[in-house]
Amino acid sequence: MADTTVTGATVTDTMVRVENVHRSYGTGAAAVHALRGVRLDVPRGELVALKGRSGAGKTTLLNLVGGLDEPDEGRITVDGLDLSTLGEDGLLRLRRDRIGFVFQSFGLIPILTAAENVGVPLRLRRADPREREERVELLLSLVGLADHARQRPGELSGGQQQRVAIARALANNPSLLIADEPTGQLDAETGHAVMELLRAVVRSERVTALVATHDPTLLDLADRVLELRDGEVVAH
Ligand SMILES: Nc1ncnc2c1ncn2[C@@H]1O[C@H](COP(=O)(O)OP(=O)(O)OP(=O)(O)O)[C@@H](O)[C@H]1O
Ligand SMILES: [Mg+2]
Repeated sequence: MADTTVTGATVTDTMVRVENVHRSYGTGAAAVHALRGVRLDVPRGELVALKGRSGAGKTTLLNLVGGLDEPDEGRITVDGLDLSTLGEDGLLRLRRDRIGFVFQSFGLIPILTAAENVGVPLRLRRADPREREERVELLLSLVGLADHARQRPGELSGGQQQRVAIARALANNPSLLIADEPTGQLDAETGHAVMELLRAVVRSERVTALVATHDPTLLDLADRVLELRDGEVVAH
């Protein structure tokens, strides 16, 4: 894909590039070769769905792209950065500043309110409190929860909790959203609404998203669908 040069910095049109990535778990006869030479590109600004049956390697791949795990072989580039060159501190900064994560189980902190949960990444970045409050308010409005700011996760529905998690993932204006089966714990209708929200924020926040899912709704809403099969990606 073409690269464009903007004021000296190289900005590529590709947000995520995965080249010949292998990842195995365990050794010897018990080894599981989860990824066997995965290649894929996620173009900047797109919503890409990743499907594949249970055990196909979706979570393994998302963990590698998110810098939570390292491949045995191959190369991963995120937002123009080769992850293998970053080191622990660099990966930490990448995850904090450029990537927002959304998980199947929401991952909210139970004793914090919705607003406080959304504000966590901003606190980690030591954002100015006033700026933080304004951003939290904006994000809660974006996900349709302005009126629920003071409720704790246990006082919210599953769909509302996932909306809070999406708002939190967007807090630091990430370049990339990584979501692992974000509707896996929701009923079909609620899951549909969450997928539509993801679709909308990819447009409005100019973020790129890579979403592992079995949900047919997202497969319809995505800009492209990739499938993991036998440890490799087959395009659709
Ligand atoms: N920590 C681990 N140790 C050993 N094997 C693992 C580990 N994590 C995953 N695996 C194996 O790697 C393969 C890929 O697992 P992965 O979790 O990536 O699949 P998945 O596509 O996310 O599945 P699901 O749809 O069920 O979430 C599976 O065979 C799994 O058993
Ligand atoms: Mg998984």
